[in-house]
Amino acid sequence: MSDLNNTLTRTLTVKEAIETRHSIRKFEPTMPKEDLLEILRLASLAPSAWNAQTWRFVVVETPEVKEKLQAAAYGQTQVTSAPYTIVIYSDMEDVLATAEETSHPAYGEEGKARQRQTFEGAFGSQSVEARAAWANTQANIVLGYLLIATRGLGYDSVPMLGFEPGKVKELLGLPAHVQIAAILPVGKAAQEGHPHHRHSVERITRFA
Ligand SMILES: Cc1cc2nc3c(=O)[nH]c(=O)nc-3n(C[C@H](O)[C@H](O)[C@H](O)COP(=O)(O)O)c2cc1C
Repeated sequence: MSDLNNTLTRTLTVKEAIETRHSIRKFEPTMPKEDLLEILRLASLAPSAWNAQTWRFVVVETPEVKEKLQAAAYGQTQVTSAPYTIVIYSDMEDVLATAEETSHPAYGEEGKARQRQTFEGAFGSQSVEARAAWANTQANIVLGYLLIATRGLGYDSVPMLGFEPGKVKELLGLPAHVQIAAILPVGKAAQEGHPHHRHSVERITRFA
């Protein structure tokens, strides 16, 4: 395993974090909770439209809940292998109910009123399903941040969409209107990942 994995004595550069991130499906059994909390703190600095911060996290840590989450994820064993498995979801109804919280304090009471007005204008006439889909586009930004923050602090992860959302919501007591962006087992790798296999920049880019 790369010596970058050894300790947390330094954080990885962004370049190192991106180049050495690989999906990992077998983990060491433990990691300090404060490192997990630091990963969440860094990820929560992600940007979002109108600063809406639609993302919410459930960190699954108890073996019994992890077992049930694994069952809802078609038995994928990385869910129980990781010391922590984060369920990343978006809750647009909570965002709308608490619009004032996301207004920057620098804008004062007027800013709070404007934030509510903006959200009501943009989403008030949309269906719960349509605005939930929008909220999930924002939660995917935090997912990207989580992947890089995790690796940057010397840990590993695997993003997952292979699960039954209804079962996960039921297990975690989440309301029906939320959307689950991903499940993310996090910990220290206990196996090597696969080398990257990606399109070349030329294949996916053109200048206009
Ligand atoms: C949104 C998303 C969902 C994924 N779902 C799963 C999954 O359910 N199970 C799994 O083993 N890997 C899953 N993966 C991992 C991908 O297979 C992996 O990222 C891809 O093959 C590239 O490999 P790398 O992450 O090692 O670079 C998912 C990745 C993403 C980004």
